[in-house]
Amino acid sequence: MSAGKRDLVSIDDLHDETLIGLMDLADRIRRNLRGHAADLPGTLLGSLFLEPSTRTRLSFEAAMMRLGGRVITSSDPGSSSSVKGETLSDTVRIVDSYVDMLVLRHPAAGAARAAARLARGPVINAGDGSREHPTQTLCDLYALRCERGRISGLTVVLYGDLRYGRTTHSLVKALVRFGASVVAIAQGGLQLPDPVVEDLARARGYAVQNVDVTGLEAVFLRPRVSALWIAPPAEQPASRQLRLDERRVDAIYVTRLQRERLPSGQSVEALPILDHRFLAAGPFRDTVVLHPLPRVREIAQEFDRDPRAAYFRQAALGVPIRMALLLWVAGAVDLGGTVPPEPEARSDPGLTCRNPGCITAMEPGSVPLEFTDLPGAGPRCAYCEERAETVGGEAAQS
Ligand code: NCD
Repeated sequence: MSAGKRDLVSIDDLHDETLIGLMDLADRIRRNLRGHAADLPGTLLGSLFLEPSTRTRLSFEAAMMRLGGRVITSSDPGSSSSVKGETLSDTVRIVDSYVDMLVLRHPAAGAARAAARLARGPVINAGDGSREHPTQTLCDLYALRCERGRISGLTVVLYGDLRYGRTTHSLVKALVRFGASVVAIAQGGLQLPDPVVEDLARARGYAVQNVDVTGLEAVFLRPRVSALWIAPPAEQPASRQLRLDERRVDAIYVTRLQRERLPSGQSVEALPILDHRFLAAGPFRDTVVLHPLPRVREIAQEFDRDPRAAYFRQAALGVPIRMALLLWVAGAVDLGGTVPPEPEARSDPGLTCRNPGCITAMEPGSVPLEFTDLPGAGPRCAYCEERAETVGGEAAQS
């Protein structure tokens, strides 16, 4: 990120104070959504969506228009020059020269980092492959705060495809920063990816442990369910069992199976659907149900009328929180908190990134292969953050 440029590639690009400032600003905006048409007059947003989207694109566009700015959009990957073989780098260079800021959704992990490095104006990541979706996390945190009044000290269950679903990767990092306790119940072994878990284990004294969850017999029809417990310092796991029936689950965050990202031929065992029977179980009696949407049968339609069903309220918050974000990215507000520097990257001819979903693999040669050295983590790809390997195929050492 160049000095003074406010990119949002990862949720880690936002300081805690800035995150809180964005939610406070969204609260003020929400009280008078139509009263901000003079806030960013003449600012032009480029909305470049090379993967399907409804909520994210339309809420960004609504947000910019409600601030008095304008939008140009490319929302049909089939009608953009990427089908002619244009690289992300070339597309970004061009659109960046037309607009004041860019919102990018792209199928490759690390695409947003590559774009932010190339663009003169700020770049906002609207989802890069299965890596991150930081603006969805803004919406999710804001929904949690609106529904529960706080984030710190909450117990949140993540439920679904946690490997290929990018929203939980950004969300779990943020929940840990705000002191929540997280129980990750994954569909068919699609647990949070190793680099995400490694970072959590290093963060703020958290312990990450595989546990057997008990207290969910009524819904899973078996005595134990395995999960990853991401526990704050005050609650370090004393055994490999977590009795969920002795806790109150404040929120359950459900995600769909990302079929489009599953390796071909892989089938995945389904998790029980969330319905009234499921949510009658002890730990969930007072749980708010969140989902980034779209839902594909993970939550029964009949549940929509239940006051605990918060997913449509959550989606509606996407506009005010993105209005707050656009104001911050444009430099129109100062919310406190410094912009963390991008981790220093280096080239190394002996290393490579073997993530087939990374921008370096999907568009080889269009961005320089580079690596970062996070303390205690060994070299990682500077774009998708997967562990680097030696060109000979071995795990690279720190
Ligand atoms: C999510 C996404 O695109 O990652 N959708 C969204 O932006 N609200 C979730 C998903 O597609 O499952």
